[in-house]
Order: sequence, then structure tokens, then C-alpha cells
Amino acid sequence: MEDGELVGVQKTLTPVLRAKALDNRLPDPILGDHYAEEAMRRLDPDYDHRRFGTSQLGLAAVVRAKAHDDWARSFLAEHSDAVVLHLGCGLDARVYRIDPPATVDWYDLDYPAIIELRQQFLPPREHCTLIGSGVTDLTWLDRIPRGRPVLMIAEGLVPYLTEADVRRLLAGVVDAFPSGQIQLDTVSVWAWRTSKWDPTLRRYGTRFRCGFDDPAALAGWHPRLEYVDEAPMNDSPLLMAKAPANVRRMYRILNLLPGMKRSSRIVRFRF
Ligand SMILES: C[S@@+](CC[C@H](N)C(=O)[O-])C[C@H]1O[C@@H](n2cnc3c(N)ncnc32)[C@H](O)[C@@H]1O
Repeated sequence: MEDGELVGVQKTLTPVLRAKALDNRLPDPILGDHYAEEAMRRLDPDYDHRRFGTSQLGLAAVVRAKAHDDWARSFLAEHSDAVVLHLGCGLDARVYRIDPPATVDWYDLDYPAIIELRQQFLPPREHCTLIGSGVTDLTWLDRIPRGRPVLMIAEGLVPYLTEADVRRLLAGVVDAFPSGQIQLDTVSVWAWRTSKWDPTLRRYGTRFRCGFDDPAALAGWHPRLEYVDEAPMNDSPLLMAKAPANVRRMYRILNLLPGMKRSSRIVRFRF
């Protein structure tokens, strides 16, 4: 399988997966996800043989994944009866990393083509259901058991949706469950507006569709939604502690640029 068979926004899973695969090769990895390394090798056997092939420049995405994992673990530690909505899951192996108890029902959702790849690359797991669907067609919500606390994780997804679709998605999830946690990441308005010139996104034939300078304000979209906190990404102490020296230097310089440090934000809400 070559990632050439993925189309448009689906291709955006590749750089994130590559970053997680390369992290697993560090002596002291941030995520330590061997599934990412195996899936990346199958998706693109030459992924580490090209120019910049083994560079750890994507480590901020790994820090983002770790932040989502840590928040998810703490929510599930207190809600062993939760249902998890892992939206725009790509080939991320979060359910295996977190290894929730059998009392948790986990749903991995992405486009049908990605779900087919997941079935080829990742082992099946009890209490983990794959849903091949666009996330904005909210009929998938009808398949999820109600009446239980929900954990919604959207890693690297929200920027690819329109603001109207994000609003409908958040309202749909909050209205469907008695309580829960929503964790997602966003890009800034600047990053959204300039994404049409981003060489990687151009190559994939996609772009960001929304951006927020104050993602905490999303809580105002629903009376039951409350902003909790934010996790650092581009200036994360974890990134600075674990990244190789050349990567640390690059992020230090980039973070001096206005807007860069807060170009991506990881935020958590509850209801
Ligand atoms: C940047 S990747 C992130 C993948 C994964 N969450 C991770 O962090 O490794 C974005 C993912 O969102 C999925 N995606 C984008 N728009 C979507 C939509 N409207 N419905 C379902 N999935 C979508 C893509 O197919 C892709 O797998």
C-alpha cells in the first residue's frame, strides 16, 4: 500500500504517522508507539529514505498526541463506563497505547478508505468499533450507546472542518450525552488563512477550513460546555527535554516568530 491511494485530506495522516514512527526510534521516545512504526513502514516502505527522511522536525505532533493521551487516561481513570469517540483517527493507535478496560467502549472514526487501511494495518480489538464515515454526517452518532459519559478526541481534525461543521459536531455530541470531556486541537486564524500556501497541504490538495485565536471561546457555543485548560505544543517543556538538539534549536527560533508559538493549540472542555 502506498499513501498515493489516499486522497486529499486523508493524506494528512501521513506526516503525523511518520513523526510518531520516527519518535519510536529515539533512544528515549515521547510516545514510544511501535504500531506507528509498523503502520508507517507498510504505508510507505521508503518513508525514512528520502531527504529529511529521518529528521525529527515533526516531534511537536508527537507532543500533541502525548497530551491527548494523558488527558484521555485521566478521564478514563475516573469514568470506567465511558464511551470514547476518537474522530479523524487516521492510523493512530491510541486505543492500544491507552489500553482502556473492557468496560470502556471505544469508537475509531475516519473516512471509509482510512478505516479499510486500519483493518489491514492494526489488529482488531474487543470493545473497539471502527466507523467508516465522514465526521460531519452526524448519523454515525446514532450508532453510539447513550446515557454514559463520553470522551471525544479530535486530534489534527478540527482545522480541516468548517467552523459551521465544528459547531454542529460539538453541539451534536454535547446534546447526545449526559456528561463528558471534549479534547481537540485548533490552528490560529493566521495559520488557517495562510494554509493555502502551505507546500505540504498544497501537495495533498487540501487546506485548513477554520482557525481560532481564542479556542477557549468555543465553550460559548453551547450552554453546557465549559473550557478546562490548554496543553503546550510548540513550546512544550517535553519537546524541549526530549527532542534532539537541532530540533530544539529549530523550535526555539520558530517560536520567536510572532504567531508561531500559538499557531496550534490543544484544548480541553467538559460538560
Ligand atoms: C492530520 S490527520 C490526523 C490523524 C490522527 N488523528 C492522528 O493524529 O494521527 C487528519 C485525519 O482526519 C481525517 N478527516 C479529515 N476530515 C474528515 C472528515 N470530514 N470526516 C472524517 N475524517 C476526516 C483524515 O482522513 C485524517 O485521517
